[in-house]
Amino acid sequence: MINIAILGFGVVGSGVAEVLKQNADSITQKLSGEKINIKYILDKRTFPDHELGDRVTTDFEKIVSDPEIVMIVETMGGSHPAYDFSKQAICAGKNVVTSNKEVVANYGTELLELAKSHSVNYLFEASVGGGIPIIRPMWECLAANKIQSVTGILNGTTNFILTKMIEEGMDFDEALSLAQCLGYAEANPAADVEGMDTCRKICILASLAFGTAIDPKNVHCEGITKISSEDVAAAETLGYSIKLLGKAEKRAEGTYIITAPHLVGYDNPMSGVRDVYNAITVCGNAVGDVMFYGRGAGKLPTASAVVSDIIDIARVCKEPMTWTFSDEDTCMDHKNAPVRFFVRTNDPNAKDYFAGCVFCDCEDGTYAFITDEDTEFKLSEKLNNISVLSAIRVL
Ligand code: HSE
Repeated sequence: MINIAILGFGVVGSGVAEVLKQNADSITQKLSGEKINIKYILDKRTFPDHELGDRVTTDFEKIVSDPEIVMIVETMGGSHPAYDFSKQAICAGKNVVTSNKEVVANYGTELLELAKSHSVNYLFEASVGGGIPIIRPMWECLAANKIQSVTGILNGTTNFILTKMIEEGMDFDEALSLAQCLGYAEANPAADVEGMDTCRKICILASLAFGTAIDPKNVHCEGITKISSEDVAAAETLGYSIKLLGKAEKRAEGTYIITAPHLVGYDNPMSGVRDVYNAITVCGNAVGDVMFYGRGAGKLPTASAVVSDIIDIARVCKEPMTWTFSDEDTCMDHKNAPVRFFVRTNDPNAKDYFAGCVFCDCEDGTYAFITDEDTEFKLSEKLNNISVLSAIRVL
């Protein structure tokens, strides 16, 4: 049994408990049969209706002095007391996993050194990019490279707000309230919209990429509050989207690092990153550009990153990457999976067989439509009734 404590049972902390419960079997399997047990939850509030309500305490000393606790999961947000508790936990020989970008950006250097000197881990995958794996891939999978630049849409809330304003004509306050309801925004959303959150995240990435700590206080930081709908419309006319970016680049003169809205050309995949999604492009001198994409905020995506760090620490003896041989046929018949087809036909009966689908006329006198979703088996049977020129699956 691996006993852990969660500090802060808000959106992310409760998400961690949910993921650990929901995926308990597969996680236990990855830990060669060991179970992860949430022994304590530190929070000022009580959760009488939650199944872990009896684990809630306000006494950090009890947690940090418990020899059974091997890992502290800090999901409190804000610098204090999160930093102080993390430091105390490391000094007491506990591993620490955090989603707290403010603490990592402001105190990461100190806490990482402290963790090293106490032979414990301080892991922070969830501090950047929500559910996107970026910290460990940069550290491990891109280790062969000298990183030349990192550019990212790093704040889910602002990208969500910009998307809602541009695509749905929502006003700023309404879009922000929605982001708050969905658990994307910071406790003080000024950190999102004024750019500080992006700034902290690009500093964490740049510190990791270039090997020296970059203090957010020294980085130019603009948010999205001055962007007008006229700016957006004019940029669109020219073929650009407006995105809040964190950007860090190694140059001969030193590290160029900035947080600010940028025009991103439609030919750059970042221009199509919508809603709460984040995207990060890392350029290495051997690999070239590598892009990471996924949900940048939210309960379960962020918890996914936290729990992966928990598992990483819990794998005391790391299992080698492997798979096993099975005599059983584990693949399903692809014809039983639900699909949609793009169909091109010149059969006049198609409109009867596929009534309800939208048909469009093609230049060559044929016409095309997209089927409703059904198993490929059933759709193929139905398509056998008409003459089909092409049928292509829709992603
Ligand atoms: N407020 C942050 C965001 C949460 O919107 O990206 C995830 O770090």
